[in-house]
Amino acid sequence: MAKENKALITLFGAAGDLAQRKLYPSLFNLYKKGYLAEHFALLGTSRRPLSDEDFQQMVLKSVNGMENEEGQAQAFAKHFFFQSHDVTKPEHYTVLKQRLEELDKQFGAEGNRLFYMSMAPQFFGTIALNLKKQDLLTKDGFNRLVIEKPFGRDYESAKKLNDELSQTFNENQIFRIDHYLGKEMVQNIQALRFGNTIIESLWNNRYIDNIQVTLSEKLGVEERAGYYDQSGALRDMLQNHIMQIVAQLAMEQPVAFTDTDVRVEKIKALRSLRVYTPSEAAANFVRGQYGAGDDTHAYRNEDGVDPNSITETFVAAKLMFDNYRWSGVPFYVRTGKKLADKFTRIDVVFKKPLIDIFANPRMKSEQSLNSNVLTIFVEPNSGFSLRLNAKRAGQGFTTEPVDLKYLQSDEAKNESPEPYERLFHDALEGNHTNFASWAEIAYAWKFVDVIRKLWDIEEPQFPNYTPGSMGPAASDELLARDGRQWVYHLNH
Ligand SMILES: NC(=O)c1ccc[n+]([C@@H]2O[C@H](COP(=O)([O-])OP(=O)(O)OC[C@H]3O[C@@H](n4cnc5c(N)ncnc54)[C@H](OP(=O)(O)O)[C@@H]3O)[C@@H](O)[C@H]2O)c1
Repeated sequence: MAKENKALITLFGAAGDLAQRKLYPSLFNLYKKGYLAEHFALLGTSRRPLSDEDFQQMVLKSVNGMENEEGQAQAFAKHFFFQSHDVTKPEHYTVLKQRLEELDKQFGAEGNRLFYMSMAPQFFGTIALNLKKQDLLTKDGFNRLVIEKPFGRDYESAKKLNDELSQTFNENQIFRIDHYLGKEMVQNIQALRFGNTIIESLWNNRYIDNIQVTLSEKLGVEERAGYYDQSGALRDMLQNHIMQIVAQLAMEQPVAFTDTDVRVEKIKALRSLRVYTPSEAAANFVRGQYGAGDDTHAYRNEDGVDPNSITETFVAAKLMFDNYRWSGVPFYVRTGKKLADKFTRIDVVFKKPLIDIFANPRMKSEQSLNSNVLTIFVEPNSGFSLRLNAKRAGQGFTTEPVDLKYLQSDEAKNESPEPYERLFHDALEGNHTNFASWAEIAYAWKFVDVIRKLWDIEEPQFPNYTPGSMGPAASDELLARDGRQWVYHLNH
């Protein structure tokens, strides 16, 4: 039986793309499951004038097509209200405050307030400051802030934003969204590691040769060109999603599976990430930008992109952790647009046996053993596989790689909540496990800023990869120079 969360949600950016595509459907799922019921209401805000009824129609449209019992969507939409509001105008918050107090009484939210900022990041600080100045936080019940990415453009701007938010909310009240942390298989990293002796006891530099994380996108920038051209793959994907995944792979076992304990370990892991000098960064990062393909434009010719843009649409990097567990083990990461396919996977490559008795000259065999690889498939498939060496059936003695594979059934996948549904629920419950803390974000920016500064002044040789490939040749060379290769490569 689901426990009902009593809360009044204030959504800034209620008419926006994210709200309509992701947030309302996620809330509807929580409503269908009973996590949201009678005692919740949402006050949506944007500058445009909309009546409550118009807004409810917008919400109904965004949940249209989702399965529901008769009348359920209509009953859900009745919890939605709208207030035309310009976040930069302090006087508008007075009206907001009044409406929130009325709705709180009407729905019995018991002073529980969740403020969700789903709009352009330059407004995040302003909203938080006004919430305090105009006294919108309650004395009874909880006050929480959910905030969308991006969290800053570099360490300095992220710190400034955090300082602004901190004037109104303390760290325990802030939930910074990284939707990768809401994905089933990213959460499964901890179950796999800390629930299995055979995995965790090998999870260190004695047995692991290297770890690879790939977030590959098939699409280009589409309608996000304006935003993306100011951001690039380093800021848009590596600083946040990749660093969060890497932190979970690298962290020590938490004392218990609580948000506080997990946070402590993730922060500790990121503290031991080696921050490169500029010349080390230049050697350990690769950037790319896609050119024209058979039937696609080059990035520089996309609508909304500067024709001389030096924004990277691909990034690969080698990360090193200077601690007892990981010393000497590279974490190779990469992400990019217009690559061969859309998928996210983690490949953990184990060391080969110290002695390969099957390659012994007396066996007159040319073969050699493969590395064991544990692959975590994050998406589109959810599951994992373990590559082992086994004897090939038949006469003679040769070995071949075989995969033990587990993929979640379609049924299980359908039952898995979407990231936003999961994260909304976590925020309503006050559970921080799947949100990024300020300290994690700060370490990630400090790591990334070194290369960003370098790339901002050095002219790259762009474009340097073809759509449908796995990025520039330099990405393969990054591993080849260490005598390694990407586990996932084309013709894989
Ligand atoms: N869209 C996505 O898929 C996606 C994915 C990941 C993260 N995000 C993040 O989510 C946030 C929202 O993105 P989005 O794509 O939904 O943005 P969007 O479609 O541009 O929506 C922005 C919203 O803000 C409102 N707004 C703009 N200026 C305002 C002001 N001065 N006062 C009050 N309201 C104002 C707009 O409505 P009015 O014009 O009526 O004011 C609109 O409702 C951003 O931080 C983005 O980075 C989005």
